[in-house]
Amino acid sequence: MMLHTRYSLALLGLCAWFSFQVYGRPTHKPTTAGIHVSRQFDSSDMYVNWPTYDELPRDPSFPTKAAWGVWGPKDELGALNHITSATIEAAKEEIKEGIAISMNLELEIPNPPMNPLRPELIHAVIPFEGYQDDMISLNTQVSTQFDGLRHYPYSTAGNISTYQFYNDLITFDDIVSPARIKTLGIQNAAQKGIAGRGVLLDWAGWKESKNETFDAFSFFNITTSDLDSVASWQNLPSNFTRPGDFLIIRSGFMKQYSLLPINQEQVLPFRAGDDAAWIGLEPNEETLRWIWEKKISLLGSDDPSIEPHPENSVIGGVKRNLHQIFIGGWGMSLVEFLDLETLAQTCHKLNRFTFFFTLQNLNMAGGIASPPNAMAIL
Ligand SMILES: *[C@@H]1O[C@H](CO)[C@@H](O)[C@H](O)[C@H]1NC(C)=O
Ligand SMILES: *[C@@H]1O[C@H](CO)[C@@H](O)[C@H](O)[C@H]1NC(C)=O
Ligand SMILES: *[C@@H]1O[C@H](CO)[C@@H](O)[C@H](O)[C@H]1NC(C)=O
Ligand SMILES: *[C@@H]1O[C@H](CO)[C@@H](O)[C@H](O)[C@H]1NC(C)=O
Repeated sequence: MMLHTRYSLALLGLCAWFSFQVYGRPTHKPTTAGIHVSRQFDSSDMYVNWPTYDELPRDPSFPTKAAWGVWGPKDELGALNHITSATIEAAKEEIKEGIAISMNLELEIPNPPMNPLRPELIHAVIPFEGYQDDMISLNTQVSTQFDGLRHYPYSTAGNISTYQFYNDLITFDDIVSPARIKTLGIQNAAQKGIAGRGVLLDWAGWKESKNETFDAFSFFNITTSDLDSVASWQNLPSNFTRPGDFLIIRSGFMKQYSLLPINQEQVLPFRAGDDAAWIGLEPNEETLRWIWEKKISLLGSDDPSIEPHPENSVIGGVKRNLHQIFIGGWGMSLVEFLDLETLAQTCHKLNRFTFFFTLQNLNMAGGIASPPNAMAIL
């Protein structure tokens, strides 16, 4: 959930209409798809010629650390390509106790939304004679959310004319165009079939175990060296991820939120300027390198945006946040505002922090984000 609200507003059913009202009739710019330097594939081993972090980007004209072309110049799945039949099949070993745990908040939580510009969910019950339907209108950036590849582009100096989406396949105008271009829409992630092994790093639990206090509603960096320490505290091996894993970090944001008195829930989203802060992964090169080398398919957490807020990081000499590189650069979706409380308790009880997971996005052609319908099975 980031603050480019006007551009990420994804009211189901109303999206195309809304875009049209706000932006008028956009002009369609040709894209530069197809001109990229792409990787030589070896179908017997997809990691042959796999670029190291230092080898990114593959063409100096691409933006900071972009992985454009790594899965081919027209690829629309990005890091989800790490999920294969083999990774799913191997993950079945994680189901041992037969415990299934939802990782989704109720759809209207947090309420009011953490970004006050985003409208609250609308739920209408429609009574008929002897039965009823209901209708839901939601901004997909409010509750537990899977950020799709239309959500966040590179933007140099925050300038709309410099927006560059994953693999440079679309322009901002394409997304808001009434031509109903579907490229990079959430339907790709809905139709891919997302399942495999999840790994939980309970950073907040680790801090608590050391009696170290922190405020999840402040700008606070979770570092990769912290995360390696968390893994070892949880008795995970040093190579605790495998290609295709869904790596999940518990920051403690939602626990702290759930303990707020209701009047504070009302006030929290309306903090001004630098006070509108929260915890997240340190936005720097170490974080990027650490994540890239793990070949994970997805990165998730219980906080609003994976990275801390407000964002003012500089990466590779350019003002960049992690969203730009993860989503726009690597095609790696982020799963935010996960409910990790029951999962974390269960993992500690079983002394086991890996599990099978499934995730099913809404099959919304051209959609930007989605409730993930994420489940852990232990
Ligand atoms: C945005 O970038 C374009 C192209 O580089 C430039 O012409 C324009 O002045 C910039 N707009 C702003 C508001 O900086
Ligand atoms: C944390 O505090 C509790 C209660 O005061 C104490 O029993 C425990 O030893 C402390 N743990 C550490 C790691 O300091
Ligand atoms: C992880 O490391 C252990 C030893 O530290 C090794 O036995 C195992 O094969 C490694 N697993 C992977 C997937 O590389
Ligand atoms: C968080 O990390 C960034 C990037 O390394 C750094 O610039 C910033 O000073 C850190 N902020 C805090 C509060 O630790």
